[in-house]
Amino acid sequence: MCGIVGYVGSKEARSILLEGLQTLEYRGYDSAGVAVIQAGGIEVKKRAGRVADLAKELEGSTLSGTCGISHTRWATHGGVTNANAHPHTDEAREVAVVHNGVIENHAALRTTLEKEGVEFASETDTEVIAMLAARALRKVRTAKEATVAISKMVSKLTGTYGLLILSKKFPDTIFAARLGSPLLLGIAKHGYLVASDATAVSAHTDQVIYIEDGDVLAVNPKGYQFLKTERNHSVEQIEKVEMSEGLGKFTHYMQKEMYEQPASITSALRGHILKNEAIPRLSGMNITDEQAGQIDRIIFTACGTSYHAALVAEYWLEEIAGLPVEVEYASELRYRKSPVGDNTLVVAISQSGETADTLAALRELKRQGKLVRALVNVVGSSIAREAGGGLYLHAGPEIGVASTKAFTSQLAVLFLLTTYFARIRGVSKAKGKELLKELQNIPVHVKKALTYEHEIETIAERYQDVHTMLYLGRGTNYPVALEGALKLKEVSYIHAEGYPAAEMKHGPIALVDKETPSVIINPRSALYDKVMSNLEEIKARNGPVIAIATEGDRAIAKKADQVIYVPDVPDIFQPFVTVIPLQLLSYHAALARGCDVDKPRNLAKSVTVE
Ligand code: AGP
Repeated sequence: MCGIVGYVGSKEARSILLEGLQTLEYRGYDSAGVAVIQAGGIEVKKRAGRVADLAKELEGSTLSGTCGISHTRWATHGGVTNANAHPHTDEAREVAVVHNGVIENHAALRTTLEKEGVEFASETDTEVIAMLAARALRKVRTAKEATVAISKMVSKLTGTYGLLILSKKFPDTIFAARLGSPLLLGIAKHGYLVASDATAVSAHTDQVIYIEDGDVLAVNPKGYQFLKTERNHSVEQIEKVEMSEGLGKFTHYMQKEMYEQPASITSALRGHILKNEAIPRLSGMNITDEQAGQIDRIIFTACGTSYHAALVAEYWLEEIAGLPVEVEYASELRYRKSPVGDNTLVVAISQSGETADTLAALRELKRQGKLVRALVNVVGSSIAREAGGGLYLHAGPEIGVASTKAFTSQLAVLFLLTTYFARIRGVSKAKGKELLKELQNIPVHVKKALTYEHEIETIAERYQDVHTMLYLGRGTNYPVALEGALKLKEVSYIHAEGYPAAEMKHGPIALVDKETPSVIINPRSALYDKVMSNLEEIKARNGPVIAIATEGDRAIAKKADQVIYVPDVPDIFQPFVTVIPLQLLSYHAALARGCDVDKPRNLAKSVTVE
């Protein structure tokens, strides 16, 4: 999952490319580079590190031109080095290439080229493309012939690519090709941009053409030319991508986005609950009430945090709407031969709307003719566009790699979906009104949960050096335990595991000792006593316990080593508030350990490779 931006037009490419890369750094930030056509040749500047490091290096350079390509990388093949940074060129620097995706047959192609005497400068799969492209373009005379030659070249590739190619022979042209990794063409007054997603073009235009799988095109200052296909490639108007208005008073985007949650939950609900109506309006789902009445199973498919949100919804839909639910990792569902009935609704959940596995699972279920919808945050993203309908989170840009506000906004939208199906399946109007009323109170409770940050910071500092932590919860707090463990892992690099609290006895309790703390999520609920027993089992083995408990619960304070309180909310709504201390705990543990909270090592915000 890398970010790529190309520009050709009347303006200097360098600043447009760097600004575009900066907006795409959430896709990967190991290394960055640019290539521009300059004085009849190709000038390349690239290095390991962030886009800001590259920009600093370019300040003193003479790199200049109005046609260029650029890349910010998340390493797939080859380590994080200057040599492995994109763009890559052929040995004679006839072409330069930037690539998002994975070429699965790159080793065989490399071997063939090496046998012809080609020497590679990097370990990447992309450099193989550069060598092949240079050879493919050697005999062509026109840009049109070049698109044909590129189409033939990419047909030798197995895998995925969003590809931009510069060629010395065509100094005012960018060639692009797409299979499996997102690309779009932005049409600005001063020129054209080709980029991974709308974020990178939004400052210049709201007119885009989505480049589809199998497309090859040439773009120059006068226009663009798709290699003949049956597609009409219509120009679409995109919503202006809300750029995050910076950090404001916050130190990190993750912190800012945690505090945005009362507002983002409110935003997720806006327009769906009409006064005095006891059933949410979900017109975006593009499902009639009659169709909804015939649905007898829902399959959610997602990855990471979005998967955990789906697990919470599984409890809600089964308990409140009496609807059977399955939750599948997208990376598994896409390859499973899972029988999906005709009355099954498949819902893909994705903050970025670009997660390769989730997109592939959606495509596979659509190919099988199933009813597929999506819950997405990024407007106009691939998953949003390819689903047959769905709901946007309207959470605004989530810049921090660790998902926080998207999770609680997903819960909000999933609860709307739950209430909708409950009412369709006969739950009373009064119950519907009660559920929606409670749901609309949630932002206040989340805001209150955030007020315990200082206490949480102290606890995080206390445990900053542990090697592993266990997270335990029951019912809807079991997915929250999984989410809390994921948060800690991804931002503080402390190992953590989430379990159903009762599952401890079946093995994991062997891990418990005085160096291994457990976070036990035990707000007041029907399962309170059961979880308290699990807490005591851990204490009996000298395991430190951090309890997440309901405000006013003094009993648990006598048993746990530390207690973090959350507001008292009805059982089914607890995930909205119990996740908050876990987000804050991971954030402060990461700070205490000097980790890069917003751009954790090895990660990227949008995993667009499988
Ligand atoms: C969550 O904090 C992680 N960044 C990661 O697990 C993420 O949730 C996962 O990659 C799915 O992303 P998506 O919601 O954009 O599809």
